[in-house]
Amino acid sequence: MQVKLSSGKTIPMEMHKVRIVQQTWLRPVEERRRAIQEAGFNTFLLRSKDIFLDMLTDSGTNAMSDNQLAAMMVSDDAYAGSESFFKLTNAVEEMLGFRLTIPVHQGRAAEHLIAKTFVRPGDACIMNYHFTTTKAHFEMAGGVVLELYKDGALQTESDDPFKGNMDLQKLEDTIQQFGADHVSFVRMEATTNLIGGQPFSLENLRAVKTICEKHGIMLVFDGSLLMENAFFIQQRELPQMSVAEIARAMMETVDLFYMSARKGPSVRGGLMATNHQALFDRLLPWVPVYEGFSTYGGMSTKEIEAMAVGLREMLADDIAGAGADMVEYFVGRMVEEGLPVVTPAGGLACHVDVKRFLPHIPQTQYPAGALSAAFYLVSGVRGMERGTISTDRTPDGADVPAGVELMRLAVPRRVYTLSHIEFVVDRLKWLFQHRSLVQGLGWISEPPVLRFFFGRLSALNQWDAALMNAFAADFGSNAL
Ligand SMILES: Cc1ncc(COP(=O)(O)O)c(C=O)c1O
Repeated sequence: MQVKLSSGKTIPMEMHKVRIVQQTWLRPVEERRRAIQEAGFNTFLLRSKDIFLDMLTDSGTNAMSDNQLAAMMVSDDAYAGSESFFKLTNAVEEMLGFRLTIPVHQGRAAEHLIAKTFVRPGDACIMNYHFTTTKAHFEMAGGVVLELYKDGALQTESDDPFKGNMDLQKLEDTIQQFGADHVSFVRMEATTNLIGGQPFSLENLRAVKTICEKHGIMLVFDGSLLMENAFFIQQRELPQMSVAEIARAMMETVDLFYMSARKGPSVRGGLMATNHQALFDRLLPWVPVYEGFSTYGGMSTKEIEAMAVGLREMLADDIAGAGADMVEYFVGRMVEEGLPVVTPAGGLACHVDVKRFLPHIPQTQYPAGALSAAFYLVSGVRGMERGTISTDRTPDGADVPAGVELMRLAVPRRVYTLSHIEFVVDRLKWLFQHRSLVQGLGWISEPPVLRFFFGRLSALNQWDAALMNAFAADFGSNAL
């Protein structure tokens, strides 16, 4: 929720009070340099104890509510037929309208099972944009991942409210090209993560559904960021509807739904859901093979209880926008300071446009990785590389320059305050003024798949020393 102050300025207003807190530390800059070196200039490999504000991800890092914590106390640990599972299926049916639910341990587990069940080698897996784990699973199953985003979707400076829309003409053309029988499915990803948390409109989703129906193609919906997409539709398209009503309207188009529940519902888990018995029956046998019995799906039953509560809470009007409002403030402050950032503000994170922040570093030297390491060094804040390192090589070993080079600064829901955001903007401003000190990265060791998780790199010409010295000259070596 946003409130207007008497000055006319608008700020995000937290509709909750903090009752439990977790200590955090801001280490001196020399210690931060040691930490990022030990981490191979990969923020995934930092230790939590060395991080001040953890903006790596909004996944599994959101604040739970008192009601969620209370629900965890009454979970039913039965291996099969757990009552906790039935509370979850009730919540899914009530909030999303699906009768059949399968819990899984997290979003990518759903992708694994969907890939195994529905992706046919050589066939097209059409989507508005890929997510890293999605692409990995579908390609490992032999699918051809095709992203049919609209023109302008990858333009970082924009006022397009729905950059996550699918291009309908490209969809028709691609179905024509492959033949409907050779399209495994069309996947729509809510609040499209890798292009900056950008939503699609309900109108676009419905149009995609009409085309899918015409050709007898299944529509798969990745709802990991459903709550923000529904919130943006309310803000930008259908202000007369509640977020919960919009979510239900979106779900009416969907054949197979899946989500990471580590985001909106603030738990550690995931689920698949559908109203098609035939789809459910094809997925079900694989669940105990890879996840666990179908009434817990690899999740703790405590988390299943909390997920049932979280699914109801996340679609309440006051809660759905809690993260997005904070991101909007963050992006607005970045724009005010003249810092390059993806606009309009998306869900989940503020995305720094690295091609404009570090224009002197070529994509072959991984500018988004370099910025993420440099920013940790000067702030203790951990962001995530979402650029060329996050894009794996082609089968013949070529690097694939990412469509957009981003540093993602995730805003876990209901966790950080406005003073945290002000600190982040201030340190980014300092870094922007000293950006010429940052150079690229080179590989020390590179994993064959999803290399951004475990890859180790080094700073070309040891630029981290010059950056640390400049920081210490301005703030003192022990200063924060
Ligand atoms: C859009 C989207 N799909 C799938 C996933 C994978 O979910 P998980 O991290 O729970 O495996 C994520 C995670 O961030 C995501 O953002």
